[in-house]
Amino acid sequence: MNEKVTFGSKIGLIAATVGSAVGLGNVWRFPAETQSNGGAAFLLVYVICVFLLGIPVMLGEFALGRGGKSSAIGVYQRLTPGKPWWVAGAISTLASYLILCFYMVVAGWTLEYLIQSVTGNLYNINPVAEGGMNNAFATRMADYIVSPWKPLLFTLGVILINLFILLRGVKKGIEKMSNIMMPLLFVLLLIFVGVSLSLDKAAEGLKFFLSPDFSKITPGVIINALGQAFFSLSLGMGILVTYASYYPKDTRLGKTAITVSLLDLLVAFMMGLIIFPAVTTFGLTGENLEGATLVFVTLPEIFMHMPCPQLWSTLFFLLLLVAAVSSTLSIAEVTVMTCQEHFRVSRVKACCIVLLPLILFSSLCSLSQGVLSDYTIFGMNIFTFLDTVTTNVMLPLGSILMCIYVGWILKPSFLQGEITNNGTLKSRLLPVIAFIIRWIAPVLITIIMISQFL
Ligand code: PFF
Repeated sequence: MNEKVTFGSKIGLIAATVGSAVGLGNVWRFPAETQSNGGAAFLLVYVICVFLLGIPVMLGEFALGRGGKSSAIGVYQRLTPGKPWWVAGAISTLASYLILCFYMVVAGWTLEYLIQSVTGNLYNINPVAEGGMNNAFATRMADYIVSPWKPLLFTLGVILINLFILLRGVKKGIEKMSNIMMPLLFVLLLIFVGVSLSLDKAAEGLKFFLSPDFSKITPGVIINALGQAFFSLSLGMGILVTYASYYPKDTRLGKTAITVSLLDLLVAFMMGLIIFPAVTTFGLTGENLEGATLVFVTLPEIFMHMPCPQLWSTLFFLLLLVAAVSSTLSIAEVTVMTCQEHFRVSRVKACCIVLLPLILFSSLCSLSQGVLSDYTIFGMNIFTFLDTVTTNVMLPLGSILMCIYVGWILKPSFLQGEITNNGTLKSRLLPVIAFIIRWIAPVLITIIMISQFL
């Protein structure tokens, strides 16, 4: 059914895959992880993790997707019919759907903040009466997130944006939008890097971010850097398998994996160049840079210190929305393709089957921050539970199984054939990549997964 669907151009397939990788992971998870894991030392370990593990595992997913030319579940069924390996794909597919439920909510918050920035409402505050600027923004964020109806409205908005793009198909929807969104994202990032580097105490922030103190590298830092690399590169969710099934036969998988990983790394690096100079300049080093607080409290506070806060705020939330939507498209595509293939329904029906129930599921996640916060699973509200169980358990499990499958179950000629385009390309690194997929990746990911429970 999906045999003929491919991305239309090399640039398009790179833009779409980078769009999937670049998301909240780069913009709000990376600076927070860097801050709490010792700054430059974390950056160094992170870069090593991306090269040593991220790129080989990404290549494994690409090979599986393009070689199996099917959905994240279908590739396993097609390559090893009658065997239970499809369960590995089912775990990734389920994880991607569960992630979508709460990722849409965060994308909804971003849309609301974008609109509040455009209208100027966000900056309509009285810091003196509201106990200081930080407090004023923190109260706003809390009010907004626990509000019973506002986040629902904006989450619905983001679901409809996704539906609109996905309904247009892989080439005319995902690829075309990525071709517009990715250059826009890089231009916006460059503007922010320029502004941030020209701030007074930029050098101090850069020192924290760029000059490593090797004594800060601990096993914990390595584990966190690996987790961040997998999250940021969208590994273990079936996304890359799904997108690679749309790659034409002549796509050079090695080159694509390196380009995508480097661009994803570049975006995270640029976010560091933006955040740390700003945080030191405005004396906010002690502030919590944890994801939501960084984006919805610290950054608006920083914009307030600059001329034209409304302009910077609008540009920033536009950037964040672009990053979030290009990721939600890819996360949703995993289940859309699975539905199309397994229920043999049209794309329109598959998009509706996947996205419309999200109106309910994402609403539940959203309400779990407020009126439904008393309903907990293992002591966590629905939102936090889904976040924890998917990122800490399901994604690593999906990756481990994928590596075992590509490294041990399929014949070595499968990986070799995909990476060398059936022998037409040379790859001196092939034995190293195969060794990492067979041994290093499954062992290390298992250690990370288990260490989180200790
Ligand atoms: N890689 C994207 C990001 O960094 O936001 C998308 C993503 C991957 C989201 C993995 C969630 C996730 F668990």
